[in-house]
Amino acid sequence: MAEILNKEAENTVENTVTTANNTVVEAIGLTKEFRDFWNRPKAKAVNDIDFTVQEGEIVGLLGPNGSGKSTTVKMLLGLLYPTAGQLSVFGKSPRDVDTKRLIGYLPEESYLYKYLTAYETLDFFGSLFGLSAEERKKRTTQLLEMVGLEHAKNRPVGEFSKGMIRRIGLAQAMINDPSFLILDEPTSGLDPLGCREVKDLILMLKKRGKTVVVTSHLLSDIEDVCDRVVILYGGKIRAQGTLNELLTIQSTNTITTPNLPAPAMEKLLSVLRSNLKEEEFKIEHPRMSLEEFFLDVVNKAQSESIETYGARAGGQIADYLSTGQKDTSSVSGKELLDTLAGKGKEEEKAVEVKEEESTPRIDSALLHALEDDSMKSRQEVNTQEPAAPKRDLSEANKRLSSLLSNLAEEKDQEKDEE
Ligand SMILES: Nc1ncnc2c1ncn2[C@@H]1O[C@H](COP(=O)(O)OP(=O)(O)OP(=O)(O)O)[C@@H](O)[C@H]1O
Ligand SMILES: [Mg+2]
Repeated sequence: MAEILNKEAENTVENTVTTANNTVVEAIGLTKEFRDFWNRPKAKAVNDIDFTVQEGEIVGLLGPNGSGKSTTVKMLLGLLYPTAGQLSVFGKSPRDVDTKRLIGYLPEESYLYKYLTAYETLDFFGSLFGLSAEERKKRTTQLLEMVGLEHAKNRPVGEFSKGMIRRIGLAQAMINDPSFLILDEPTSGLDPLGCREVKDLILMLKKRGKTVVVTSHLLSDIEDVCDRVVILYGGKIRAQGTLNELLTIQSTNTITTPNLPAPAMEKLLSVLRSNLKEEEFKIEHPRMSLEEFFLDVVNKAQSESIETYGARAGGQIADYLSTGQKDTSSVSGKELLDTLAGKGKEEEKAVEVKEEESTPRIDSALLHALEDDSMKSRQEVNTQEPAAPKRDLSEANKRLSSLLSNLAEEKDQEKDEE
C-alpha cells in the first residue's frame, strides 16, 4: 500500500490552508480521482467539495454506497493524496506528524491480529503511541469497560462477532485520547442495541469537547448524533447544513400534550376549526420509533436473565479521555494509521474477522433510560403535514450516565459477594 500511496503522491498535488483556531478541518475544492496503471482516469471519487468542521462539532458525512465518504475520510487522515484542492486538519497538512497524533480513526473494516486477545490488542495499539505500561493498563481497562467487552478481555479477537470487532475498533480509536475522531461507519454490523450505545458514546465524547466526523448511510445514525451533515452523491456535495436548517418544516407546527379531557379537546377543536379547514389539521397519538420499540422488547426479554457471550452494555466513558484539545502521545501516530488502514495486512497475517454470535445482552437499566413512557399517553395536534420528529436525548443521556454509574457500583458489589 505504501508503494501505491507514493506513486499517487507523484501524480497528485496537495496544498494546505491556514485556518482559524477553532476550525479543525477545512476543505476547498477537494478532489480525488483514481487512475489506472496507465494514468487514465478510473473514478472521480470526490469532485470539488468544500466543507469545514469546527472544534467540538459532530459532522456526519452521509451518502449512498460509492458516493465518496471513505475516500474523503482517507484524505483527512493523509492516507490518500488529493488530486486537486486544498485540505487542512488543525491548520496543517493531514500528513503532518503532529496532526496525526491528535486523530483517532475507526476504519470501515478493522484488521486485527486474530491471535491477540482484546486486552492485548488495545495494549498493542497503546504501545504504538508510546504509552507507558502503566498508562496502557489503565486505558485498556477503562476502554474495555466502556465498550462493554470487559468480560471478553482474554478472548482472542479472531473469535469475536462483527459487533464485538466494531466495539474493540472504537476502543482502539480512542487509546491515544484523540481530540478529533474519524469514525467510518461506526455502527456497521452492530445490532440496534449496539448502535444506540455507539450513538450515546459519540454524544458523550462531544460533551468532552471532542470533534467527530462520522460517515454512514444509515440516516437514523446521523440524525441522532450529528450537529451538521454533509450529503454526498457521486463525489459531490448535494446538501450541507445543520439538521435544523435541513429538516425543520417551517410551514407547520406540532403541539404535543397529555391526553386532554373531552371539554378541553372540544375547545381546542373549535379554535382550530375557526382558523383552519377540516383537512388542514389532524389530531393523533404519536408513535414510538421502531428502535424504541425494539429496545423495549429486548429489555423485557433480558429481564429473564439470558446469558450471552457477545458484547454487553457499555460502561461509563473512560476517565482518562480528556476534555478539550490535548496531545498525550509521545510518538507519531503514522504507523498506527497505516496499521488501521490495513497496510501490509497480508504479510502480517491480520484478519478481517467475520461475524457469528448471539444477541448481545444489555442491562435493563440502560434501556429504561432510553424509554419515554410518556409517549404512549400523549396526543399530538398537527397542522398540515407532519413535521420531522425530533428527539431530545439530553435527558435520557443524563439518566443513562447516572444509571451506568449505579450499574458499575452494582457490579462491584456482585464481585465482592462472589
Ligand atoms: N482505491 C480505489 N481505486 C479505484 N477506485 C476507487 C478506490 N477507492 C474508491 N474508489 C471508487 O471511488 C468511489 C467512492 O468510493 P468510496 O469508498 O469513497 O465510497 P463510500 O461513500 O465510502 O461508499 P460505501 O458506503 O460503500 O462505503 C467508488 O466509485 C469507488 O469504486
Ligand atoms: Mg465507505
